[in-house]
Amino acid sequence: MVKQLNVGVIGTGWCGGIRAMACARHALVEHLHIAETNPLRRVEIEQMVKPATSTEAWETLLEIEDLDAVMISATPETTHYPMAKAALEAGLHVLLEKPIALALEEADELIDLANKGGLKFTIGYSQRFNPKQSFARRSVRDGSVGDLRHVLITRHVGRRLGAKIGNRIKLSPAAMEATHDIDFAFWCLKPRRPVRVYSQMAWGVRHQSLGLPDSQVMIVTMDDGAVVTANAGMALPASGYPNASTTWIELVGTEGTVMIDDTHKEILHNTSESGMQFPLSTMPGEYVESTYAGPMERETTHFLEAVAHDTEVMVDARDARLVMEVYMAADLSADLNEVVELPLSSDQQALSLTASIKG
Ligand SMILES: NC(=O)c1ccc[n+]([C@@H]2O[C@H](COP(=O)([O-])OP(=O)(O)OC[C@H]3O[C@@H](n4cnc5c(N)ncnc54)[C@H](O)[C@@H]3O)[C@@H](O)[C@H]2O)c1
Repeated sequence: MVKQLNVGVIGTGWCGGIRAMACARHALVEHLHIAETNPLRRVEIEQMVKPATSTEAWETLLEIEDLDAVMISATPETTHYPMAKAALEAGLHVLLEKPIALALEEADELIDLANKGGLKFTIGYSQRFNPKQSFARRSVRDGSVGDLRHVLITRHVGRRLGAKIGNRIKLSPAAMEATHDIDFAFWCLKPRRPVRVYSQMAWGVRHQSLGLPDSQVMIVTMDDGAVVTANAGMALPASGYPNASTTWIELVGTEGTVMIDDTHKEILHNTSESGMQFPLSTMPGEYVESTYAGPMERETTHFLEAVAHDTEVMVDARDARLVMEVYMAADLSADLNEVVELPLSSDQQALSLTASIKG
């Protein structure tokens, strides 16, 4: 008989709300505990998930006897490292939303703590649970596309979501958006490692309002010469298409290709009141009555199952650390207008942290 789990969710906004709902619906969860600083949101979530504990003080969750795991979904992103560190030090398994940390030494410390404690530590790279991305990766692993030589991913979100993110933290489009796509590309290209990065920022409508670029483009070269091209944009108009996000992916191998249309144009909801809407186009997905459209629910239940059955988590935190090093290199490359070789030296890491985008 599998032991049921006691799980905490810290920060129950958009993503944390989905995580809490997924836990509340899952038979492996005995008690759900939440921490949320926004009193209105806390009441809303309490009504939805009926938690055993509801508090504004996240530290008190870590003191709950028999707590097995926490999911950390708070913002701003400066909260991720201290919360994850405290949770791992308390001996808890951790699912942490990206970014893993803000500095590489913080990420290293968290990975080290998890390893020493024998704890599951995974990062919310939800797109690995998107069936389209899973199919693409399988096509690499089963050999049908031959030797994968180029992965191209272009992703745009609307400027309303771009502003929500940009108003809370000055992280680049690579760090906040392309991070999913770099992770996906490297997942397909494993065990190849990135060796070189070149990136440029496209400045536009977000320059004045947020001090941030509209888009970031990057080219990453792997150690066998395979290439990843990623474009992350956060400036599409607030209304109309794409509503939330739109993505196009190309995998080109020596024997075949996979083209993924994740542009969310397949459902059009047109009403007199709101005009044309493109629903179900968010990256984490959403509940639709009795089902879930998108990857985040499965990502959450996968983590619960990994903890309960002591099996491997899909996203190894070391993968997130590598992605972080690459987007830091991309920010530095754009700032210096130079190609940046990997791994980053400690001087380059410090320079990336002060690249012009971060003011
Ligand atoms: N995997 C994905 O597809 C995906 C999508 C969006 C966001 N994210 C990541 O998830 C994280 C959360 O994003 P979001 O859009 O859900 O943010 P959000 O702002 O909607 O939610 C964050 C919540 O944390 C709460 N909070 C802040 N400080 C807290 C504290 N000290 N203790 C407890 N609660 C606290 C806030 O009140 C808010 O309700 C971000 O870091 C982001 O990078 C991932």
